[in-house]
Amino acid sequence: MKGIILAGGSGTRLAPSTDSLNKHLLPVFDKPMIYYPLSVLMLGGLREIMIISTPEDTERFEKLLGDGSGLGIKLSYRVQSEPKGIPEALLLAEDFIGQDDVTLILGDNIFFGQGFTTLLRNAIKHHKHATVFGYRVKDPERFGVVEFDHRQQVISIEEKPEDPRSDFAVTGLYMYDFRAVQIAKRLKPSDRGELEITDLNKEYLKWNQLRVELLGRGFAWMDAGTQESLFEAGEFIRTTQQRQGFKIACLEEIAFYLGYISKEALYEKGKGMEKNDYGQYLMEIAERKHNQQYWYSIDHHPMLGLVENE
Ligand code: TTP
Repeated sequence: MKGIILAGGSGTRLAPSTDSLNKHLLPVFDKPMIYYPLSVLMLGGLREIMIISTPEDTERFEKLLGDGSGLGIKLSYRVQSEPKGIPEALLLAEDFIGQDDVTLILGDNIFFGQGFTTLLRNAIKHHKHATVFGYRVKDPERFGVVEFDHRQQVISIEEKPEDPRSDFAVTGLYMYDFRAVQIAKRLKPSDRGELEITDLNKEYLKWNQLRVELLGRGFAWMDAGTQESLFEAGEFIRTTQQRQGFKIACLEEIAFYLGYISKEALYEKGKGMEKNDYGQYLMEIAERKHNQQYWYSIDHHPMLGLVENE
């Protein structure tokens, strides 16, 4: 399974902050927004990831994350010349996807909750055809809405319906087999001039090949695309981190616990930022004697190859 983060767009709702900086580089409390979707793909066990962004911003992501070797993963980059819609990511990444399955995540989506890593890993392990992730919301008419049966097979999927058939929004996380590229090639732009991800999902639905994984009430799903939601997301991350003493979406920590980077590398990375809380946190983990508690903080998850670095 390959991973793609779509981090282009115009970010008009966050102007003027986004007039000269890509939305996904803005901080959500103590780290850039893109750390959150990247942490999702890493926790899912994906190691080959492509970041797609605008002509102006792609090199800034490269400056931030490099080739991924510092995190024990392989990152590549691609430019989207204009925001022509989410499915365009699949077209731009055709050679990268090849014959593999792919997980696509939107760069401004934040997922957090007990059991998420397990859910994700299971979804990847059992993945066939196409999977979307549903989350119950108060205002489904603002989102893509998914209706499903008791086996979580999708019955209908509609973009911003006036009269929603369920309360479940489709989040910005999608899994497809490689056929998605060919399907995306056949899509026509909608009235707003973009290729629509809902249209792609509808193609899988026609063949009865669209499943939904449900994120229950213990999960937080946020998109940080407006001033209010960006602030709220930052506040949520700050409160949760302060209460628990764990960081959310700390990429170096995840890489360390997955056995991708050494204790020494983690310590060095922290030392480079020792004047701030993020750096001190990394150093503290590297110096800890017992690290098992980490998995209890996310998922109780021995399947992940618990603490190879002990
Ligand atoms: P949107 O929030 O729909 O668009 P945007 O980020 O350009 O913001 P605004 O509406 O304020 O102008 O995009 C959702 C996510 O998908 C976001 O992370 C940006 C990304 N995206 C692209 O990278 N390319 C695209 O062509 C589209 C449509 C979205």
